[in-house]
Amino acid sequence: MDSLERLESKKNNAGRDGAIGQFDLSDDVAYRAWRTKKRQSYPARFEDLVVKITNPGAPTASEMEAILSRCQTYNMAIYATRPDASKLEVLKMVRNFGLKNLDSPRLTNDDDGITELEVIEGGRRRAYIPYSNLPLSWHTDGYYNAPTGQVRSFLLHCVRPAKHGGISKLLDPEIAYIRLRDEDPAIIAALMAANAMTIPANREDGILIRPDESGPVFSVVAERLHMRYTHRRKNVIWKDDKVTAHARTRLRAILEVGDDYVFSGFLQPGQGLLCNNVLHARSGFEDYTTQNTRRLIYRARYLERVREPTELEF
Ligand SMILES: [Fe+2]
Repeated sequence: MDSLERLESKKNNAGRDGAIGQFDLSDDVAYRAWRTKKRQSYPARFEDLVVKITNPGAPTASEMEAILSRCQTYNMAIYATRPDASKLEVLKMVRNFGLKNLDSPRLTNDDDGITELEVIEGGRRRAYIPYSNLPLSWHTDGYYNAPTGQVRSFLLHCVRPAKHGGISKLLDPEIAYIRLRDEDPAIIAALMAANAMTIPANREDGILIRPDESGPVFSVVAERLHMRYTHRRKNVIWKDDKVTAHARTRLRAILEVGDDYVFSGFLQPGQGLLCNNVLHARSGFEDYTTQNTRRLIYRARYLERVREPTELEF
């Protein structure tokens, strides 16, 4: 059997999640080679993720390459463009990075698909933590989405930062995967179970807004790792067995104790995080009090990953 046949055979034998190569738990050689390469890019600092984009409406080839290579290496990049960049310019810019199909948000202010995150004093949105100044615990976006509508990437663009606080922590899910697999591959197997984590239905005033959504924490989609996670203890039902409980405890420990490879910092006006839905948390913050000075972040979620550098067309 030649190498191509072996690859085809592996693909055919891959499980429901299509785990091949480094994400195949029975392929330790591929895993170790990938892990070694992955770790060569660390340690890295928050500042190392930042790429200047002079004109958001038309990023240059080298600016594009710098963003895409960081997304390939760390699953995230931070662009720094003009503080007065418009929403339209930001949306246009991210289309260059392959992000086109928006996850349809329920709470969009406008119909352009971008959610404006700011502290809301009243109304329905007040009940959601992203619209308050409270800390946000570790999660990936859209963990409550249906399997067919998973958020593969998202954008957070800072228009105005908070007065104090609002520090983001970011962790590449591939690093979390490596930590857990190195500890015990059974942890990964448990977190890849189709019913590892269930988010109960969401009802408001007795009306069903979203049904129960059950799925794995780690899955492999088109040969790329995808993670679906919330650190919240409420409104989450974990698969009720010992191995899942252990896996969950170990994942919590990584996030709570802190990992050397967590990026920590905050976005300045005109800066934006572009990522393949990495694990993220945010500290609470003190805000300014007037409408035009309060913290304002644009958020957009997409159904596809940031494109690979090799997909660039110049
Ligand atoms: Fe989030």
